[in-house]
Amino acid sequence: MKISFTKPGLPETGVLVVMGYEGGTLSESALAIDKVIEGTLARAAKIAKFKGKVGEQVSVLAPQGSKLERIVMIGAGKPEKLDLLGAEVIGGTIYKSLAPEQPRTVSIAFDALEEGEGRVWEHAAHIAFGALLRSFRFDKYRTKEEADKKPSIRALKILTPSGGRARKAFETLEKVAEGIFLTRNLVSEPANILYPESFANICQELTELGLEVDVMGEAEMKKLGMGALLGVGQGSARESKMVIMRWNGQQSKGRKAQTTQVAFVGKGVTFDTGGISIKPAAGMEDMKWDMGGAGTVTGLMKALAARKANINAVGVIGLVENMPDGNAQRPGDVVTSMSGQTIEVINTDAEGRLVLADALTYTQREFEPKTVINLATLTGAILVSLGQERAGVFSNNEELAERLKKCGDATGDKVWPFPMDGEYDELIKSDIADMKNTGGRFAGSISAAKFLEKFIEKDTVWAHIDIAGMAWSQADKPTRPKGGTGYGVRLLDQLVADYFEG
Ligand code: BES
Ligand code: MN
Ligand code: ZN
Repeated sequence: MKISFTKPGLPETGVLVVMGYEGGTLSESALAIDKVIEGTLARAAKIAKFKGKVGEQVSVLAPQGSKLERIVMIGAGKPEKLDLLGAEVIGGTIYKSLAPEQPRTVSIAFDALEEGEGRVWEHAAHIAFGALLRSFRFDKYRTKEEADKKPSIRALKILTPSGGRARKAFETLEKVAEGIFLTRNLVSEPANILYPESFANICQELTELGLEVDVMGEAEMKKLGMGALLGVGQGSARESKMVIMRWNGQQSKGRKAQTTQVAFVGKGVTFDTGGISIKPAAGMEDMKWDMGGAGTVTGLMKALAARKANINAVGVIGLVENMPDGNAQRPGDVVTSMSGQTIEVINTDAEGRLVLADALTYTQREFEPKTVINLATLTGAILVSLGQERAGVFSNNEELAERLKKCGDATGDKVWPFPMDGEYDELIKSDIADMKNTGGRFAGSISAAKFLEKFIEKDTVWAHIDIAGMAWSQADKPTRPKGGTGYGVRLLDQLVADYFEG
């Protein structure tokens, strides 16, 4: 899809999309085209009981003799209430409903909002962003679908004043979308294709964007004493890996700054059978996306590099496959983590925290970042508490949790904070080791977070985001098809932009 921004004015061909506002008022362009087609649009709106709610649509065919194909009016709500996420819903909804017709050109006329009520160019950019996000498709394994049958829009034109500023804003959003698409692709890949080594190879391709990428194998991790991570991968025929991606984009007084400001750490279990504590068969296929945290970190690093963020950030992902096997780790085993702390493995299905433990220690010792944020599809319990609307945030720093909340609400990648009282530590006390890897039935997401906290060093500002409810979705949303969501890339890109850059 070729996306461009041009001056307002009625196009002569293709599909024209105009705005209709809540209460049924037509935008300027809607009125202009309606005049040409002798009031057909207003009539259709009335018959369809068009209310102008965000995303609502009414469509008429262009009259015979016109080179236009179709005129669509889309609801934009109350103009003074339309926010950037609403603009994205408009773009995404238009894409979804028109792409099956495979139009060559779709022109969206986005008239000025009333003065002082928002930056029109920014809304225009987000309409395009919404359409772009909705255009994602994971169709590489559909061999029977002919290329020319796939839904598509050849060219999308946003007709708006200040097209130049809109284009500039969109250029940044487009880079973020590239990161989101990488995450969606990674999360969608089946585990016979995406395993630790092949995942690491994909990360290595990101050096093209200026990222420094290093991969560690089992021998190196063993030397570093990563007994917790290695224990999880022990039953797999695939070698465990750790990938380190560095973006050194921070300029200070014209020179590259040396310190790492922030690190992102991801759980990358490329398939989670549960191990010897094996999961039931029903729904186990979902565990191909148990690398969602690592997928988000990778997509985020891509976005930061692509938009040349003014920051030094590092992304570290622990990649393992959790399998039952003659060599697999057993319930009751005690492993020693890189931090030196010992862990009694009560349940081999609580593996994500074991992987993260060593990835967190390594990240802090190697890069000494002030802030560490980890992402993981860590617990089924987070789905019980928050469903698929918000991820859970667990932090040792209220300000960081608050900032994540703000960025989440602004980007739609929403989070909700959980308590981290010391009393919860009781849940993971072991009789024979420094801790155990499960905390029982109650407060399952919190005891998992408390486990991770034991691997956070004294001065590190830290947050853990449990994305088990967010990485995958069985339902379409206006700005994404069902499947891998790419959750978290926008959230953390925004956090970097608002609080770390500049
Ligand atoms: N990968 C799962 C968590 C998960 C569940 C992610 C559902 C996405 C959807 C994790 O490794 C796991 O198995 N957690 C266990 C922990 C328990 C054994 C303490 C769980 O949530 O049941
Ligand atoms: Mn598990
Ligand atoms: Zn898991």
